[in-house]
Parts: sequence; structure tokens; C-alpha cells
Amino acid sequence: MVLSNPEFFVTHTISLQKELFPMKEKVDLSLFPVTAGINSLGHLTLAGHDLVTLAETYGTPLYLYDGATVRGQLDRLKSLIKTSYPGEATIAYASKAYFSRAFAAKLAALGAGSDVVSLGEIHVAQKAGFSAEVIHLHGNNKSEAELLAALQWNIQAIVVDSLDELAFLETLAAAQKRPARIWLRITPDLNVNTHPHIATSHSDSKFGLHIQNGEAAEAIRRSLASPWLKLAGLHTHLGSQIFDAEPYQQAINALCEVAAANNFIPEELSPGGGWGVRYTNADSADDAELWVCTVADALQEACSRYKWPLPRLVLEPGRWLVARAGVAVYTVGAQKTTPDGTHIVAIDGGLADNPRVALYNAHYTARVVQRASADPTEKVRVVGKFCETGDVLIPETHLPPVKRGDLLVTPVSGAYQLSMASNYNYASRPTALWLEEGSVEVMQTREQPDQSGWLV
Ligand SMILES: Cc1ncc(COP(=O)(O)O)c(C=O)c1O
Repeated sequence: MVLSNPEFFVTHTISLQKELFPMKEKVDLSLFPVTAGINSLGHLTLAGHDLVTLAETYGTPLYLYDGATVRGQLDRLKSLIKTSYPGEATIAYASKAYFSRAFAAKLAALGAGSDVVSLGEIHVAQKAGFSAEVIHLHGNNKSEAELLAALQWNIQAIVVDSLDELAFLETLAAAQKRPARIWLRITPDLNVNTHPHIATSHSDSKFGLHIQNGEAAEAIRRSLASPWLKLAGLHTHLGSQIFDAEPYQQAINALCEVAAANNFIPEELSPGGGWGVRYTNADSADDAELWVCTVADALQEACSRYKWPLPRLVLEPGRWLVARAGVAVYTVGAQKTTPDGTHIVAIDGGLADNPRVALYNAHYTARVVQRASADPTEKVRVVGKFCETGDVLIPETHLPPVKRGDLLVTPVSGAYQLSMASNYNYASRPTALWLEEGSVEVMQTREQPDQSGWLV
């Protein structure tokens, strides 16, 4: 009777096997890039490369990007868009998450567009081979040089952020006798559930043209009336590390409503980026299906409401595309235990290559590269080497016992770390590598104190 119950049979057999052959639970590498593994030496590997060997060759701190994970994320987004949105669409990578020439060239070759925010990012995008029609320029205070560079390159859109900028750009475009193709960044005055430093769409935000005070409507009217401004689309960006799709639906409705009220039919519509990723196992699942489907449905419903043709949908993910693809590798140095009983493990990087903990109270996990499957038995605080008490990488975590020279690796380090890295304490910004099975490519080399033009 009992044995005929297949469920009981399977559970019972497994627990019997566990008793007879106690085996280590499979190590959870789900926060790491998709190619992560542990080799016969017990070392962590990515795309088949032993991280101990990479650290010996390139030094630490070291940033590693896994090509397969970047491609996987991009393919997932493409397929979600294909099944949920029947109109044209572009994925414009938010280059602020991480950009170097080699990295940008990979994304350009994979068919992504890019959102850029500075002369530097425009330059990298040009050198990397992006075509102008997949580039748009953001920023709440673009310089004349940035606006002129965008006009001359004839990019898809300059995303106008304020009425002040609208007037400034109109003057520049008239002087150049070159009409500016623009989108308007609309602020829907919505609160989203994320850290206040990465929320951008509330009514007190420095970004965008607010709907609430009439700026958005005014900007649409002025743009449509100007011979030097070619209004092509509307944009909004709600913030970053968001897991709730409802504000996207509300924002799309608000943008379409203000457009319709001012007789503007957008050719392009961008609800920005911002979909969240898992940094630790406490974070929600982070597949983008809910985000893409909500955006696609909201836009189609709005278009059928106003009897518009479907605009080109432009998604602007940064973190979601690249965060999981990157890891940071550090070397353990000094350790101590405070009178309060906190055991402190110091690494050779920290605040200068990853300011996210100090800026946003971001949470990370770490593993010891050389003993990747060892049990985390010791409660520790992982701190950096910089002269700030706030230079803490992980306030509290568990690690196996570590010693000087061990390597620590933090997963989910591909976004807003290297791109925000500083030279605080004259730190050298780290090397970054792109990994494929069988190949390693240096995308960015560690700065050197004797490098010309750096320390004079
Ligand atoms: C205008 C704009 N678009 C897209 C992004 C990308 O956000 P995320 O990396 O959270 O997807 C940002 C990030 O700040 C942004 O400012």
C-alpha cells in the first residue's frame, strides 16, 4: 500500500541514500555567472578558468565578466520582447552600468543600442562601433560640447531633461542649422520602492519634465512648434533595482495621456530601465518577464485607447543585463577582532572600486575562491583598505576560516562598481577581463602610479 505511493517511495529512497552515503549538498552558485563551477582543486572557475590562476596572472582587485552570461541576459530580453510586443523594439544598454571600449564593442556586435550620458560615453560608443541611430543621450545638465557632439553624430535622440535645456538646445540647433531629433524625459511624479538615492521619478526629482506642474505638457507644445526640434518620442526612467512592475504601467499610462492631451503621437516610447537583480538570496527572483510583459501590455492598451500605431519600444536596462555577469576578486590581508567581538577581515579593494555599499547600503555575499565549497562557519565583517570607516564591503557574513593571501570573490559585481570606481587614496582602478571558454581578453588594465598623466 505505502510502496505503491510513488511520492513516498522517492522521498524514502532519497533519505535512505543520504543516510548511507552522506554527501555534501550541492554548492549554490546561483548568484554567480552561468558558467561558474568548482574544479578538482576546489577552486572557483568561470568559463572553465581557475580564478586562482587569473588572480596570479592579473593581480587583485580583479573584475571578471562572463561572456555567456551577458549573451544569455540579452537573449532572454530579446525573446521576452518578441513574444510580448508586436511592434518594433530596441534594447539600449545603459552604459553607465559599465562601459569600456572592448565591452561596448561586444554589446554593439550583439545588436544592442546604448544610452550615453557624457562626452566620454559618446566617444566610447563611437569607437566601439555603435551606429548613431541606436544611441540616445541623457543627462539633467548636458554641456554645450555634449549637445554639439550628439547633434553632429546625428544620434537617434537627445533626451531633453528640462524646459531650460529645451531652449538651450533649440538655440544650438538653430546656430548649427541642424534640427535636433529629441525625446522628452517625462517625470510622472510616482514613488517607487527602492533606495531613495536611486529613485528618479518622484515629484522632487532633479530629473525630467514633471507632469504635475505642467512642464511636460509645455515641453511637448514648445517642441512641436519649433522648426529646430523634431520631437520623436517620450521617455521616463523610474529608478533602479525595482521589482514591482505596477509603476511601469502607471508611468506608461501617464506618458501616453500627456502626449494625447497635447496632440502628440510618439514614434518612440521608452520606459527606461531599472529592473532589479538578486544580490543575495534574500532578494526576490529577478527574471524580467513581469517587467517586459507589463510594459508591453500597457503600451499596447494605451495605443488602442488613443488609436495610435505602436511606437518603437526602447528598453534601457543596465544592471539587469550585466550585474550577474561580473564578479570581483580580492586578496585577504590583515585580520583582527575588535573588543566588541567583531572579527574583521580586510581585503585589498573596497570603497574605491565598489562605492555601492557606502552609497546605497548595498548587500553582497562572498566566497573563498580556493575553498569554494567549504562551509561558512565564521561570522565576519569584510572591510576594504581605504581610509574611511564606511569602507565596509559586507557588514556581516559567514566565511570559512581565512588567512592572508586567500582570495575572496563577490558575485553580482558587474554593474555600477567599476564604472563608479575612484582613485581615492590614489588607488589604481582595477583590471577587467572578458572570459570565454578557452580565451581571456583584457578590457581594461590596472592604472599604474607611474602612468604618464596620472600622478604628476
Ligand atoms: C535614464 C536611465 N536609463 C536607464 C538606466 C539603467 O538603470 P538600471 O541599470 O537600473 O537598469 C539608468 C540608470 O541610472 C538611467 O538613469
